[in-house]
Amino acid sequence: MISLPQVMLGEDLPALVGIATAILDDYECTVECNAEQLITAEPVALCLLAASFWQLERRGQHALIQGLRPEVRQNLEQLDVLADWFREQRERAPDLSRDDSHSPLRACRVATLSQAEQVANALSHEIAAFVPGDDFHALIQEDPTLVRYRAVEQPLYYVIAELLDNALNHGKVGGFIHARAWIAAQYYRRGDLLRVAIVDDGCGFLRSLASHSKLATRSHESAVSLAFRPFVSSHKDVGVFDDSVHQGLGLTVCRDLCLLAEGHISAASGTAWVTSPTTPLEAVKPLTPGHQGVIVMMDLHRRAITSESLAEILRRYRPDENLPARLI
Ligand SMILES: Nc1ncnc2c1ncn2[C@@H]1O[C@H](COP(=O)(O)OP(=O)(O)OP(=O)(O)O)[C@@H](O)[C@H]1O
Ligand SMILES: [Mg+2]
Repeated sequence: MISLPQVMLGEDLPALVGIATAILDDYECTVECNAEQLITAEPVALCLLAASFWQLERRGQHALIQGLRPEVRQNLEQLDVLADWFREQRERAPDLSRDDSHSPLRACRVATLSQAEQVANALSHEIAAFVPGDDFHALIQEDPTLVRYRAVEQPLYYVIAELLDNALNHGKVGGFIHARAWIAAQYYRRGDLLRVAIVDDGCGFLRSLASHSKLATRSHESAVSLAFRPFVSSHKDVGVFDDSVHQGLGLTVCRDLCLLAEGHISAASGTAWVTSPTTPLEAVKPLTPGHQGVIVMMDLHRRAITSESLAEILRRYRPDENLPARLI
């Protein structure tokens, strides 16, 4: 029996990865998790749990969550990625799920690029449409605050489409063709905080960038950090048309957007967890046990984003070019 703690926070990533690993190290037919203590699980925890339960299913096992408090159960049951704990497992199109309107939480599993597009659209739209009910001023049309709430849609679409594209393109090389991605996003009214996590079970940064000329050492920490440098890509100049070429800008732009929105990004792969990669605040932390694939966690302040934020960042790297096709 695996016990889930009271709170499952992104800042305790090694502990969360430890729980996911313990689940996968269990070869019983039914893997039981005791959730009596659980009060809250942040997006990355939901993704890691969902990813490990998915892998159990693929091995022909089953997960059983016991003792969930009714209010926590009510929230989690509605999430597509977690619904499988309670209902019979079956493959289906991603269905964005909802909890109460006070703190939007969305989560789902994504297997294909067309699903990724669908999810990026729906998720960014739903979060942008949410205006806290007690923000009466913002609810009055024409109020600039409302515009400020909605400005998050385009950048959020970019970030989600980009990170899912990475997981389902780069993550699938070297025998990882079955790689999938799990995404969860939550808006916390207190602090105006938007938190997004994407977890995949693909090849990881090191495998993807192993033959890159700028990889300083063949280590997970070097690979995670390198991936966030502008114009670094394992697929650069491969496409025939301009918009099919990876420019090596996606992660750089996601990082810059977080910084601009007074937020924070971190990424983990293998045995390395790098916070604020390639910024003066970069810190490398060991991740034991490691994670097969990539984990990206982002925090940003929603109202710090304007409709110009993304274009402003893209202009830093491509001053003379049109915005990439991925933009809505
Ligand atoms: N989920 C992932 N799994 C494995 N490798 C990844 C993943 N995400 C990124 N990478 C590696 O990091 C590199 C940089 O990613 P980034 O998103 O910045 O650029 P890109 O995807 O190559 O190009 P662009 O985003 O401009 O289309 C990728 O080329 C790939 O080698
Ligand atoms: Mg990319």
